[in-house]
Amino acid sequence: MEQKILVTGGLGYIGSHTVVALQEEGYDVVIIDNLSNSSEDFLDRITAITGIRPEFEKFDLTDKNRARMFFDQYSIDGLIHFAAFKSVGESVERPLTYYYNNLFSLIGLLQIFQERGLDHFIFSSSCTVYGQADELPIKESSPVKSTESPYGKTKQMSEEILKDYASSYDKKVISLRYFNPIGAHPSVRIGELPLGTPQNLVPLITRTAIGKSEELLIFGGDYPTSDGTAVRDYIHVCDLARAHVSALKRLLESRNKTGFEVFNLGTGKGYSVLEVVKTFENISGVKLNFRIIERRRGDIIAVYADTQLANETLRWQAKFSLSEALRTAWLWEKRL
Ligand code: UFG
Repeated sequence: MEQKILVTGGLGYIGSHTVVALQEEGYDVVIIDNLSNSSEDFLDRITAITGIRPEFEKFDLTDKNRARMFFDQYSIDGLIHFAAFKSVGESVERPLTYYYNNLFSLIGLLQIFQERGLDHFIFSSSCTVYGQADELPIKESSPVKSTESPYGKTKQMSEEILKDYASSYDKKVISLRYFNPIGAHPSVRIGELPLGTPQNLVPLITRTAIGKSEELLIFGGDYPTSDGTAVRDYIHVCDLARAHVSALKRLLESRNKTGFEVFNLGTGKGYSVLEVVKTFENISGVKLNFRIIERRRGDIIAVYADTQLANETLRWQAKFSLSEALRTAWLWEKRL
């Protein structure tokens, strides 16, 4: 029988791409999503790609009674937990909303897992837990450093909670630390939905190119990097999605070495903001209107992943180049 995997936040950006990857590997998927930053028509879009309609339950995971009812109804073999608020800026303005939502939904799920003897938990974390690392590329063994945003702190706290949960209850957990996810599914049926004005670089580039924004503001031209702009590791969302399937298989097949494992998910290559802009101009043929202004508060200079552990242990590697990833982002913007 097919194994049933619960994907929380499965209609969101990374969640929806992961649902597709899971279905393509033969897993039966059930989604919980409260639609706070996603749209129900993604169910149709996922179905159009894979030919299989995932089951879907709409509710908020901070509602633990509702969550218990869900687990009365469904028997699951593993869980990938995406459902969380993710805006760095908003988290600074509304920290309690972030702590409540991101931590209570996690703790509620873990309590239910513990009560009912469930196992195999994949957690959606972020390279934000490293802050500005002393050494690049960043290894998983790099220290977790204090981060400015409540959003980043919820990721750090969640990992601590998961570590204790795994060790005290003898459970299997993998935390995946994403670098900068970009792009859309090559079918261009799913991608990142803009709710309000995006804050991230690539959606802002494509919006400027299509004329929804007048100009792209580049935050900081005086960083100690090759061209003065900040450096990030941009990874295609489908590469990220495949890594979740690899991590899940590792747990389901009991290949994990310890109860709590963490992996970096990046390409291993860092690109400056100006390099991203130039690459986008090359693939789209559109000249971008941009201006370099002062640094954005809280931004770090450079991050990119050491991917050796994920490559060897998860038997996974990012495949999309920056150009290919930007091409799918541009197709998606045009589709929107
Ligand atoms: N940038 C600009 N102009 C913009 C937007 C971004 O120059 O209008 C620059 C930023 O300064 C940064 C780079 O583009 O140098 C990437 O910025 P993003 O906002 O796209 O991404 P961040 O690296 O700041 O943040 C991302 C995720 C967070 C996550 C973090 C982990 O959005 O959720 O990576 O480091 F926590």
